[in-house]
Amino acid sequence: MQIQVGIVGAGPAGLMLSHLLHQRGVESVVLDTRTREEIEGTIRAGVLEQSSVDLMVDTGIGERVKRLGMVHHGIELRFGGRGHRIDFADLTGGRGVTIYPQHEVLKDLIAQRLADGGDIRFGVSDVQVEGITGDRPRIRFTQDGAEQQLDCALVAGCDGSRTTTRFLIPSPNPRQDHFRQYPFAWFGILAEAPPSSEELIYAHHRNGFALISTRSATVQRHYLQVDPNDSVEDWSDDRIWSELHTRVAGAEIKEGPIFSKSVLHFRSFVCEPMQHGRLFLAGDAAHTVPPTGAKGMNLAIADVHVLSRAMAEFFANSDRTALDAYTATALPRIWRAQHFSWWMTSMLHRMPEATGFDLHRQLAELDTVTRSRAGRTLLAENYVGTPFD
Ligand code: DHB
Repeated sequence: MQIQVGIVGAGPAGLMLSHLLHQRGVESVVLDTRTREEIEGTIRAGVLEQSSVDLMVDTGIGERVKRLGMVHHGIELRFGGRGHRIDFADLTGGRGVTIYPQHEVLKDLIAQRLADGGDIRFGVSDVQVEGITGDRPRIRFTQDGAEQQLDCALVAGCDGSRTTTRFLIPSPNPRQDHFRQYPFAWFGILAEAPPSSEELIYAHHRNGFALISTRSATVQRHYLQVDPNDSVEDWSDDRIWSELHTRVAGAEIKEGPIFSKSVLHFRSFVCEPMQHGRLFLAGDAAHTVPPTGAKGMNLAIADVHVLSRAMAEFFANSDRTALDAYTATALPRIWRAQHFSWWMTSMLHRMPEATGFDLHRQLAELDTVTRSRAGRTLLAENYVGTPFD
């Protein structure tokens, strides 16, 4: 089978790329080892920047996010027993973020691709990409027990943090991997309870970071910074609530039955370049951010916004200029998001060996950021995200 673009991975990057390419008259096939049910049923967080929502609306997949998404015009930073609101709308000219889980974005994308006659192969195995430095790369895979082959002009590696496509770019030349490990993890819970706050609360406390988030009027999502070696068994419901009350002191945390507990490990990562020959990486296949800045899905969408244009230009004019510039065009935004995510993480979390000096320095940093309009604006602009163009 011949196709213009073969896309490995039906996550936010791969499906959004396929959708944007279709809108620009370029046809693609998307492959994923997971079933449609697994992809749509894996519950994931989602904070969408204004530009991500705008792109969904502008390209005809915005109906559900507009109807079901929760628009937030601010967050609270809580430290020293007091809350400090960062008013996004006021500081960024009316911009905000939308709380809308990743699996809902994926449902919207899959439905639209299928309605548009798109080709998504779920549940395939043995995916192998070959010949990316030649003129006609191939993707071999197995579907329903039969071996298949896709001959492509271009290949997109959108296979997430467990990527195989990234490793097709030879390392260390040209591929450089930039890592940052963190000496802590997040303990996440889902609880049946009313919201504790109208907006998200990011709390600094000497015991460690806590985050008050939400899923709906009846389901709440909260996180506690924990030791990376902790397991779910180490945290009884009583211990979780007690620690949340302590760390988010001054806010009224509403308790309810906890029905999900998990430990999340995270890191910062960027690989450079994000392309080799006719292979182009997008989203978590190329970079990962810690969750504190709520940037992950937005970076995937920003990548494919750039990549879909460059690919369309290649097919329309046989011009590789924009494709060749893909990494250089995408990376500045990725590094800004890396910095923001690292900054939020380092400002709010307790380091394992933290001294009194470290804690007071963090409190002073939070005070500096929240007391001046310039400081609040810096945080707000980065949280709501800069426009794509
Ligand atoms: C959620 C997760 C985040 O990492 C974040 O920064 C905000 C909210 C959430 O799961 O709701």
